[in-house]
Amino acid sequence: MTPSTAAPSRSQVARRAAAFDSSGIRKAFDLAARLEDPINLSIGQPDFGMPQPARTAAGAAIDAGRNGYTPTQGIPALRERLEAAARGETGQPERRLLVTSGTSGGLVLALMATLDPGDEVILFEPAFVMYRPLVEFLGGRVVAIYTAPAFTIDLARVAAAITPRTKVILLNTPANPTGVVASDDLVRGLAALADEHGVTIISDELYRTLCYDAPFASPARHSSRVVVLDGFSKSHAMTGWRVGWLHGPPDVVDTCAMIQQYTFVCAPQVGQWAALEALECPMDAAIGECRRKRDKLVAGLRDHYDFQVPGGAFYLYPRAPGGSGTAFAERAAAEEKLIVVPGKVFGAADSHFRIAYTTDDLTLDRGIAALRRLAAG
Ligand SMILES: Cc1ncc(COP(=O)(O)O)c(C=O)c1O
Repeated sequence: MTPSTAAPSRSQVARRAAAFDSSGIRKAFDLAARLEDPINLSIGQPDFGMPQPARTAAGAAIDAGRNGYTPTQGIPALRERLEAAARGETGQPERRLLVTSGTSGGLVLALMATLDPGDEVILFEPAFVMYRPLVEFLGGRVVAIYTAPAFTIDLARVAAAITPRTKVILLNTPANPTGVVASDDLVRGLAALADEHGVTIISDELYRTLCYDAPFASPARHSSRVVVLDGFSKSHAMTGWRVGWLHGPPDVVDTCAMIQQYTFVCAPQVGQWAALEALECPMDAAIGECRRKRDKLVAGLRDHYDFQVPGGAFYLYPRAPGGSGTAFAERAAAEEKLIVVPGKVFGAADSHFRIAYTTDDLTLDRGIAALRRLAAG
């Protein structure tokens, strides 16, 4: 049969897929690939290694033939362990837990389970790159609250942003890209506000083990309606294994599990066995190293840039000299082979740029020296 030559006028790509515009981040990655010996401070993943016992467990799982599907909810040993911890920590014995394909998988499921077209989602910008496009892809409406310059959340502004269409408040603490950690007072206030208005908080706590100055605080301790997202990517340097989890009220978690059956099916089995072993591995030394690098970067840039000292995660988010994050990132690459991520990737405001400090000391030192020159130039 001869293939038809008549070009169909309709695009093969769905219009709503345009919600995903990854050009900003891709530019940083493309640049890093093109430059010789770049100072790459753009990558948001740990530079410490996945714990050896977890790697060994992964190998053992492969050899034992544990390569097939798992139950939708996850392998029982991992799911039960995480669920018991979540119930204990929140004091909510009815809470259910689902093992997901990374925290990203949990985010997709939680949004699919809660949002109808036209529903409003309050989120705090600058925000993790996936939030806005996923909400918009599902037909939700993003109501962004801009948190610059302090990058803290003002409860009065949240209260003012709530409408009858508000369905979800999407919280991330410690936050990517700012490193700001929400206080217990704040998450308690947010939980109370959400409960009062029948709104669901989805709390992305992926960086919770990386809190340097004050203890981590979760809104789930203050409300049984909160859906928590978490994972092994950052805490145990397992970004490639795609294992996360979500926990929350039974109806939401059961709905997420049902959608997982029809989408991701399950989290990768080998990764789940590795994750189970990872739970036994102390990560204090790795976290201490992150804190040390945070302190080094803060000390090196304090007199040269305007920024909030980040209390967690592994990012610093300074104001861009000259006022444009994009122009600054371009200048940094051109003049210093330094790769940072412009603020526009994380929201409408392009006034800042993101530094990820999970790298070796030599690169970090080179980065600090380059940033000082750029501030002076
Ligand atoms: C705030 C936040 N949530 C979720 C994710 C996705 O993590 P995962 O690798 O567990 O899917 C990231 C990754 O950078 C992140 O920064």
